[in-house]
Amino acid sequence: MISIVGSGKVGSAIAFLCVSNSLDDVLLVNRTKDKAIGKALDISNAIPENSNVSIHGTDDFSKITGSDIVVITASTGIYLKSRTELMDAQVKMIQEIANQIKKYCPFAIVLIVSNPLDVLTFVFQKETQLSRNKVIGIASSLDSSRFRYLLSEKFRIKQSQIIDALVLGEHGDSMVPIFSRVKINEKNILEIIDEAEKQTISTEIRDYWKSLRILGSRSQFGIAKNTFDVIRTIIKNDELIIPASIVLNGEYGEKDISMGIPIKINKAGVKEIIEIKLNESESNLLKISAQTIRDYIKSL
Ligand code: 2OP
Repeated sequence: MISIVGSGKVGSAIAFLCVSNSLDDVLLVNRTKDKAIGKALDISNAIPENSNVSIHGTDDFSKITGSDIVVITASTGIYLKSRTELMDAQVKMIQEIANQIKKYCPFAIVLIVSNPLDVLTFVFQKETQLSRNKVIGIASSLDSSRFRYLLSEKFRIKQSQIIDALVLGEHGDSMVPIFSRVKINEKNILEIIDEAEKQTISTEIRDYWKSLRILGSRSQFGIAKNTFDVIRTIIKNDELIIPASIVLNGEYGEKDISMGIPIKINKAGVKEIIEIKLNESESNLLKISAQTIRDYIKSL
């Protein structure tokens, strides 16, 4: 069973992908019971005719008992200028959810989607003392999707022609697009892009979520699909390499924080942490990003 805590736009989009692909039973958990039940009623109509999966809604945490995967998308409110705006309330919320997960399904793999992503992933892992291989913050793969999309628009090419467009570090204002590894039609991107263009694209990735809001849209389907890919990998015992936030223990020279780095995921959660080569300026930016997350954690 997949339990999804938070049945707003993101939680319900993830649930829709899971059951419409017959992945597994889904439980939507929301503090407003009717909202969870209502979303489940709608999404249940997307279950294929020959499928055995089901979806239900509840406000009762004890029903997550036995979940293989718990996804946390809940939010205490809407932030406007920065993903860290509601940090204190979000940390309190994740601590409460952590206690419920510890109580009812301590063996689950937990995917964190709520913001501020890296701080919450770190706090959740510390609070539950679950293995760090089982607590994954999903966001850097979304930032990487945005990187790929923006490059494809800039160069008027298909996204499939862009290889290794990774964004690492904080899922926040200090995130680091890794230009040095990007290949476009076999060519290193640094041969065809200048510093000003890099800056423009970096800013666009960083503020992508704000652009969505200005246009009256919200971040929903992109993050849902990125999260679904991880859920499917775990359930199908497949393998997936993506950048995601995990608690570091010396990798990339960092510890006592959670931050987006490339990992290999399989049914056990994080199977491997991949240390890739970065150029000097990217390494420095990643250090700054790590320090930014560390400062937030220290401020709690
Ligand atoms: C996003 O980047 C808001 O963190 C969310 O879409």
